[in-house]
Amino acid sequence: MANNWNANSWRGAEARHLPTYPDADRLHAVEQTLTSFPPLVFAGEARALKADLAQVAAGKGFLLQGGDCAESFAEFHPNNIRDTFRVLLQMAVVLTFASKQPVVKVGRMAGQFAKPRSSPVEKIGDVELPSYLGDNINGIEFTAESRIPDPERMLRAYSQAAATLNLLRAFSTGGYANLRQVHQWTLEHIGKSPWAAKFGEMADKIGESLDFMEACGVDPQTVPQLKGTSFYTSHEALLLPYEEAMTRQDSLTGDWYDTSAHMLWIGDRTRFEGSAHVEYLRGVNNPIGMKCGPSLAPDALLKMLDTLNPAREAGRITLISRFGHDKVEAGLAPLVRAVKREGHPVVWSCDPMHGNVIKADNGYKTRPFDRILSEVKGFFAVHRAEGTHAGGIHIEMTGQDVTECTGGAVAITQEALADRYHTHCDPRLNAAQSIELAFLLAEMLNLERSEKRAEAA
Ligand code: PEP
Ligand code: CO
Repeated sequence: MANNWNANSWRGAEARHLPTYPDADRLHAVEQTLTSFPPLVFAGEARALKADLAQVAAGKGFLLQGGDCAESFAEFHPNNIRDTFRVLLQMAVVLTFASKQPVVKVGRMAGQFAKPRSSPVEKIGDVELPSYLGDNINGIEFTAESRIPDPERMLRAYSQAAATLNLLRAFSTGGYANLRQVHQWTLEHIGKSPWAAKFGEMADKIGESLDFMEACGVDPQTVPQLKGTSFYTSHEALLLPYEEAMTRQDSLTGDWYDTSAHMLWIGDRTRFEGSAHVEYLRGVNNPIGMKCGPSLAPDALLKMLDTLNPAREAGRITLISRFGHDKVEAGLAPLVRAVKREGHPVVWSCDPMHGNVIKADNGYKTRPFDRILSEVKGFFAVHRAEGTHAGGIHIEMTGQDVTECTGGAVAITQEALADRYHTHCDPRLNAAQSIELAFLLAEMLNLERSEKRAEAA
């Protein structure tokens, strides 16, 4: 167990990006209520994810993590949950089929509400108001009233997370994720993408393989893995009063867990030495992610790893690099080298979204698909050169047919951004762009695999 730690020891450290609630008594009452609520995940599930990630850290598997930049109360709908889930399933099948490695599936879902913002204020015309901080903190409407942090929002976020997780569990184990359904996962609106046809061909091959295996006596009755899948949840552990209130001691091991999600991560803006967010997460036993951007020096990273994972447990840490397409090769290589030299077992994952935001001429925040792809390629190139495993991808995406990132095979133009720009924060890949990315990732994973085979031969 971590030394000198308890669920509220973060309160003595420097906390950036936390809201100031005007009514401390109401905040306290909400925290008390949340503390009495059931955990959303069970410690054993977090341990299962850690074991899966330990395999990825050892080069045997790939992490697929994706979902909204920010979940919202307004977009809370079963179809949205289902569609994001099925695009993640499709991506996982593409990656598994190509790489012949297990794919660990983690949603940025069922709790991804709070957002760090680059500016504490937002200005429209002459009016300046506090920034929107996520639906579990304040409202997105541009009014003074809506921007006041309201603790009651945490209770609504908790119940939305619980209902979302309930549906995700039902989908992943109740038959929807059965590999026999692989054709049914294709969303109608991606039909116009050339990658939909490619997915159809692959689904045919999977169907044939299943027929063959069934004839040999291997079917969903005998092998339950064909019938369902493991699906985990994650979010940025930003709103510490909420995370603290969701912290529970596991009755089996006596260890502490943040039971608001299976995996939590520390954002690029809150991963500094002395940070309250680092203090909180060092004491919970969940798998932890940490964003690594251009301002992170190799020595600072090593220090952080010693703080967050002193026992060097494999599967505990996933490092999520997010440099930008033009900075990834020069920026990531020194970090990978330092971590390899010190022998820390980590999963290296690539977030090709947060370093590639640009403002379109018409004012929309967007991410060009070719830059996203170029960062992914740079990430693979670094790992190939360093002899380490390119272990995962972390993306902002949705199952909806939105127009938020430009480019892709069904090219979204800058002018088209206005058509269906629905995100509550950063621009997301739409379903077609996500599938396209999966096929391009599959090519890179295949290359890594054939190179390893050639070395072994
Ligand atoms: C995010 O993942 O939404 C985010 C804010 O990322 P980062 O911390 O890498 O900027
Ligand atoms: Co984001």
